[in-house]
Amino acid sequence: MGTVLQVDDVTKVYGSGHTAVRAVDDASLAVDRGEFVSLLGPSGSGKTTLLSMIGGLLTPTSGSIRLADIEVSAIGKRALTDFRAERVGFVFQSVNLVPFLTARENLLFIASLRRGRNRREARERADQLLTELGLEQRAGNIPEQLSGGERQRVAIGRALMNDPDLILVDEPTAALDTDLGRQVVQLLAREVKDRGKTGIMVTHDLRMVEYTDRVYEILDGRLSAAGAPGRRSWVR
Ligand SMILES: Nc1ncnc2c1ncn2[C@@H]1O[C@H](COP(=O)(O)OP(=O)(O)OP(=O)(O)O)[C@@H](O)[C@H]1O
Ligand SMILES: [Mg+2]
Repeated sequence: MGTVLQVDDVTKVYGSGHTAVRAVDDASLAVDRGEFVSLLGPSGSGKTTLLSMIGGLLTPTSGSIRLADIEVSAIGKRALTDFRAERVGFVFQSVNLVPFLTARENLLFIASLRRGRNRREARERADQLLTELGLEQRAGNIPEQLSGGERQRVAIGRALMNDPDLILVDEPTAALDTDLGRQVVQLLAREVKDRGKTGIMVTHDLRMVEYTDRVYEILDGRLSAAGAPGRRSWVR
């Protein structure tokens, strides 16, 4: 299987002059279809910045990002909205569900952003995901009536809703206990494998790394490949 995501020499500098922060410094990585990689690094090392650029939420200061045949870093503002809605599933660090929509409606809302959607298929997909995520009893609750872990799972369902090619996950397990965290990460890994997607997961939890194929590490914006999780060479 060929490389589907290709990141070359990407740099992000926030601000300018003496307050400039080089959040990501000349990062390169390549991820195949069906591959799920993890991204480790301390707080402030550039993980969210890198994911945001890969997902077309933030423009790199320099460098190139390609997803299959699309040069993400060159898409115009308008087209970027479609690109994100159709090709990318994000699970953010801060769960940002629409507060006045139920869990199920949050999933359906995302489907509605996609051009040419089929409403019946969207409803079936939403119900299937809510069941897989153990949320069928919570489908009618608004976020305020859900626990932190349940909200996180709704956010994961929402990310998978539009069958994206690329799944970008920022700390999915922070609000989940170990068993649930494991289940959620397994679900993400399965989604990547079975449906031939490409996945990147930021995590601080070394136990979750074993569900991924390869590990990248980032330190002060400098990205490096840290090998396969089984080798555990990256555990210090
Ligand atoms: N919008 C912004 N403007 C200026 N500096 C920023 C901005 N966003 C992030 N930074 C800085 O860029 C660096 C990388 O931030 P980033 O959010 O990517 O880190 P992170 O690895 O995701 O950290 P955490 O694990 O705490 O989420 C940090 O020094 C941060 O303060
Ligand atoms: Mg972050």
